[in-house]
Amino acid sequence: MRTIHTIADLREALAGCGSTSFVPTMGNLHDGHLALVREAGLQGGPVVASIFVNRLQFAPHEDFDRYPRTLARDCELLEAAGCDIVFAPDERELYPQAQTYAVCPDPALADILEGEFRPGFFGGVCTVVLKLFACVQPAVAVFGKKDYQQWKVVGRMVEQFALPIRIVGGETVRAADGLALSSRNGYLDPGERARAVGLSQALARVRDAWNTAALDAAAIEAAAMAELRDGGWVPDYVSIRRQADLAVPTLQDRADGVPVVVLAAARIGSTRLIDNIEVSVAARQR
Ligand code: PAF
Repeated sequence: MRTIHTIADLREALAGCGSTSFVPTMGNLHDGHLALVREAGLQGGPVVASIFVNRLQFAPHEDFDRYPRTLARDCELLEAAGCDIVFAPDERELYPQAQTYAVCPDPALADILEGEFRPGFFGGVCTVVLKLFACVQPAVAVFGKKDYQQWKVVGRMVEQFALPIRIVGGETVRAADGLALSSRNGYLDPGERARAVGLSQALARVRDAWNTAALDAAAIEAAAMAELRDGGWVPDYVSIRRQADLAVPTLQDRADGVPVVVLAAARIGSTRLIDNIEVSVAARQR
């Protein structure tokens, strides 16, 4: 495996390599990222992973400065997972001048849910992802479904700009108790870590209620928010959305068994976690 820090070296290394499969990351890797790298390996061609903590997607009060930078350890993990090239540019390489050209993602997808609570977040994500795509020029890019909305927003960007890249969604990897793996889990103290499973449990209860209860979506979501508050969380949202476009499902959608996803974001202590659970048609009891 090679670790490359400049765009010029990356282009040279990739020349003549054929179709590459790409996994963009911000480093501080865990098994969830490594599963995406293995998924990329199944897509064929050399696997490129990027490590870049993207300032553009952090608001001033967020954790850009304290976001862990663990390049040496990340590279060891990536090599073991089958990565061929790590692209780890520094800020001067990727943003040699202020990045004044930016992607403005579809507000219908990007200004809801995470976008409502983190204004500008998906613009920052799309801008760096487009730039990384320009550097790597992959045939396939793998995004974790843990960041479900990000996966959708990037997918639509690729569609609308007609980028010749196939976007693959990698399944969320969970700890034994059900907590979705996330770089931010490292911020949790032992007490918070023990309680953190409450988020995935709340999502599972929403899924079950959606499948079986007579309650409407708003009532199910309100009950889950109340449960989270009782468990010591400060929830931003719990929301049932259509998988296809993240729109609020209609009564007809529910009757038709349109696939939905339940998404949630909540703070435990000073750490904000997100998670989601897909509700497949097969799982519905009608
Ligand atoms: O999901 C992430 O880690 C980041 O949002 C990404 C896609 C690497 C862009 O900075």
